[in-house]
Amino acid sequence: MSERAAVESPDKKTAQWTRKDLLSLEELTREEIEHILVTAESFKEVSAREVKKVPALRGKTIANLFFEPSTRTRTSFELAAKRLSADLVNFSSSGSSTSKGETLRDTAKNIEAMNVDTIVMRHSSSGSAEYLARSIRAGVVNAGDGIHEHPTQGLLDIFTIRERKGTLAGVRVCLVGDILHSRVARSNIWGLKKLGAHVTVCGPPTLIPPHIEKLGVEVCYDLNKAVESQDVLNILRIQLERQKGAFFPSIREYAAEYGITRDQLRRAKPDVIVMHPGPINRGVELSSDVADGPNSVILDQVTNGVAVRMAVLYLTTLVER
Ligand code: CP
Repeated sequence: MSERAAVESPDKKTAQWTRKDLLSLEELTREEIEHILVTAESFKEVSAREVKKVPALRGKTIANLFFEPSTRTRTSFELAAKRLSADLVNFSSSGSSTSKGETLRDTAKNIEAMNVDTIVMRHSSSGSAEYLARSIRAGVVNAGDGIHEHPTQGLLDIFTIRERKGTLAGVRVCLVGDILHSRVARSNIWGLKKLGAHVTVCGPPTLIPPHIEKLGVEVCYDLNKAVESQDVLNILRIQLERQKGAFFPSIREYAAEYGITRDQLRRAKPDVIVMHPGPINRGVELSSDVADGPNSVILDQVTNGVAVRMAVLYLTTLVER
């Protein structure tokens, strides 16, 4: 997208976009997801330029509120805001007045009172982004809420698959690992199904949510069988910080049954792509030779994350409210 286009056509770009918030992929229509992806395609080129900036959000202010650790999501939202020429403030719970007992709503209300246009929030509570969106006039972008959803991760995963495979329709995607605690899995399932992909989930029975078939996915507990027919393997992190109890006997046994190694990949189609949202537990869910090997698109996911977040900030921040 040229600077001129970005300045002159925001109304055209946002014409079909009516949401001040992005809370989940469950709530989006297929057309809204397509709209974000097409907008992200036009923004991807900006990050490859010598001067990586367009004035699309000049004069707007974005706040990053992260109550949980993050490397990729936080950094890419920051870069996205800056490449759109928005002002950005970073807030983290440590060192803030939340440690003195201030509530989430009061914290956000106070930040909003400084005329912030959009708040990007990561929080350990499922539903916290929706609660915030109902409480404030500023836009809210969910950067991960508990085990509920991580919509921009789902979008960047879908963007990356479409870039590599040309379409989502009929593409076979297997999500492997800790489905139960994974907000990335939930966003992937909603988004991929809406765009016509065939989704399988694979992991130990204890880490597959009961009745997940109702979301239209296939369930497979045998990784050897699951990998054979897939176009995409999206490997999820074991979320030890969210597991209250023993879901498998040991990390070593988990890695032996559900870790993706070079040997395991030999069963897969030669052009299978291997994805991971990061951070990777190397040697547990993925061996290093796979994570860094020719089938891996893990760093492409990170690159695409900036374009997708530029699109999301652009669309949500420019909506009339
Ligand atoms: N994928 C992801 O959410 O990574 P971070 O936790 O580093 O943001």
